[in-house]
Amino acid sequence: MVSRVFRFAQGPRALTDESEPDFGLSENTDAVVLVGGKGTRLRPLTLSAPKPMLPTAGLPFLQHLLSRIKAAGITHVVLGTSFKAEVFEDYFGDGSDMGLEIDYVMEDEPLGTGGGIRNVLPKLRGDNVLVFNGDVLGGTDPLAVLRTHRDREADVTMHLVRVSDPRAFGCVPTDADGRVEAFLEKTQDPPTDQINAGCYVFKREIIEQIPAGRSVSVEREVFPKLLTDGARVYAHVDSAYWRDMGTPEDFVRGSADLVRGIAPSPALNGQSGESLVHEGAGIAPGALLIGGTVVGRGAEVSAGARLDGAVIFDGAKVDAGAVVERSIIGSGAHIGPRALVRDSVIGDGAQVGARCELVGGARVWPGVVIPDGGLRFSTDV
Ligand code: GDD
Ligand code: MG
Repeated sequence: MVSRVFRFAQGPRALTDESEPDFGLSENTDAVVLVGGKGTRLRPLTLSAPKPMLPTAGLPFLQHLLSRIKAAGITHVVLGTSFKAEVFEDYFGDGSDMGLEIDYVMEDEPLGTGGGIRNVLPKLRGDNVLVFNGDVLGGTDPLAVLRTHRDREADVTMHLVRVSDPRAFGCVPTDADGRVEAFLEKTQDPPTDQINAGCYVFKREIIEQIPAGRSVSVEREVFPKLLTDGARVYAHVDSAYWRDMGTPEDFVRGSADLVRGIAPSPALNGQSGESLVHEGAGIAPGALLIGGTVVGRGAEVSAGARLDGAVIFDGAKVDAGAVVERSIIGSGAHIGPRALVRDSVIGDGAQVGARCELVGGARVWPGVVIPDGGLRFSTDV
């Protein structure tokens, strides 16, 4: 795929001071956001909405990422869509409400992460292309990654973070100079705790060399090939806030972190607190909302209910004395009196009867009705 060997005569320049002006760096950069995945790990919520459009702290998740791109001075964004493509354009339109110019490129059949990047090539305008996985909540300034890319005179620069268990991610060892040595996607035997944070800068020429018209994985095919060919692939490692929102546990945690201001988002204008209650929601006196709980528009929470790190979508109901901990309650779902929902996902319009106990990863499909006292997963409450 990559026919040339990428070597430059001179070594990398010294890293520059962050306060230095950017000399058009952001103007010469397009942002690409990959949002074509099916979000299977977040089912059943992703049966009705694509993962990047799920509400987080009251906004579609993607809006937090787009606001970070905008805050970095990058205004041209291309969304690589596939699954439920129309939902993105219906909401964000041409992007002008956010001060952005958004283009959409739809894959009829998903082309994978690398194929998705190659597929947006006709829309790219600048020399640098900043690619984001569309499900990452992060606090890193994209300009900092761009500066590393420029200073290293790299072909590709990857944003890396350190995690305690790298096995679910792309593991990326680097040498003492920050040059990437290998890319090991989801290895069971990770040699380092540095992982791919899902944000890269590409030189546009590199994207031109990704094969067109077929499915390509950037992680399993493009990166390993670039490294074999000797391309200049560098790392930008930092310890800013970072979370992949792809699982219910991470989604709940990321949402709570946004509400509490632990995860920064320019879209929230500095507002934070212990809970976030949206317009038109009814909270009875005596209900307890803690741990970064979000209550959506038109939702109702009755007296004595306890919501701790809960994500309550629009129009859902939580009855008296019910407990919802670290769980997502879909739109219009109903949690009966004194029910317990812990570490679980309740689909849109589902009904959990009085005194039911759902814990430890339970998932209720949309519209399913569980009768009063009809299900227990625990005896501990
Ligand atoms: N356009 C398009 N087409 N987008 C896609 C496709 C596709 O065929 N497949 C996946 N995506 C998008 C998803 O919507 C998501 O935003 C992003 O690409 C990454 O896909 P995930 O399915 O979330 O991948 P992952 O979380 O298992 O792993 C990736 O992210 C990790 C960091 O969060 C990899 O890049 C890992 O190396 C990385 O560590
Ligand atoms: Mg992911």
